[in-house]
Amino acid sequence: MITTEFTEEDRQIEGNLRPLLLKDYIGQEKIKTNLNVYIEAARQRGESLDHVLFFGPPGLGKTTLAGIIANEMGVGIKTTAGPAIEKPGDMAAILSNLKEGDVLFIDEIHRLNRQVEELLYPAMEDFVIDIVIGRGPTARSVRLDLPKFTLVGATTRAGMLTAPLRDRFGVVSRLEFYTVDELKQIIMRSAKVLNVEIEEMGATELARRSRGTPRLANRFLKRVRDFAQVRYDGIITEAVARDALDLLDVDKEGLDRIDRAILQTMIEKFAGGPVGLETIATTIGEDPGTLEDVYEPYLVQNGFILRTLRGRVAAPKAYEHFGLPVPEIQ
Ligand code: ADE
Repeated sequence: MITTEFTEEDRQIEGNLRPLLLKDYIGQEKIKTNLNVYIEAARQRGESLDHVLFFGPPGLGKTTLAGIIANEMGVGIKTTAGPAIEKPGDMAAILSNLKEGDVLFIDEIHRLNRQVEELLYPAMEDFVIDIVIGRGPTARSVRLDLPKFTLVGATTRAGMLTAPLRDRFGVVSRLEFYTVDELKQIIMRSAKVLNVEIEEMGATELARRSRGTPRLANRFLKRVRDFAQVRYDGIITEAVARDALDLLDVDKEGLDRIDRAILQTMIEKFAGGPVGLETIATTIGEDPGTLEDVYEPYLVQNGFILRTLRGRVAAPKAYEHFGLPVPEIQ
């Protein structure tokens, strides 16, 4: 079964397929145009780039863009994640080991704990940290200068960031789902890197079923390649892509088992809604946060679910997807 979760294998595939420069990055045109200007301007002034926050659903390229920023600026990158930094001391150690101009990439930045986050404020604003040395009456605070660095933060939930943290980013960019055409270009590029033969229609079929998400497109490409090799003659045609993805339980709209469980639960158990996200999550045995960050955005954007003040409602398209009559009330 293929789900939207991120496995260690994905991490490796992604590492190999990631574009290193802005010119090789497909899609997110607005972000690219803006980043190009900011990077060029910072380079001309010989300064570090302003802090950047990327937000949006998983798999759309936040980590890739952080790497590109470091490459384009010609600086190093240190990568970590919100939950990995437990104590202010850990953060102080990371910050004081950065070199002038380096990028510090913090994934899942909304999951930093309060004390760690507070250490970041002066670090981001004035490139200093205050550390406390000793305990009790002899404790004293020492101010430490840091190299000028660029913090690149990534989060699936911009709404969960505190205002003081959000306000300290000079650039805040929302990543959008990719179009089928963009995904197709990404798949063709990845196929070349992986040395896989793929027909244009095969790439289109893969792109259509990848939920607007390059991470899924690349994952499917690898899986479909296996099918093509073992069951067919190695070339990914439209028919091969369709058969393989059917077997992987990814339907024509790119919905997987959990997407379908969400929609079917809403329709069959809650008369189409309105129903709360937590209720849906409990019913299908998924984590509400995962549902909200990973599954819902695509279903909302593509008109399967409507978000209302009273809860989520199954849209006519959801009924049609399962060949069910759309209720009158809709
Ligand atoms: N691989 C994954 N995402 C990509 C993108 N946006 N452009 C090019 N290759 C990619």
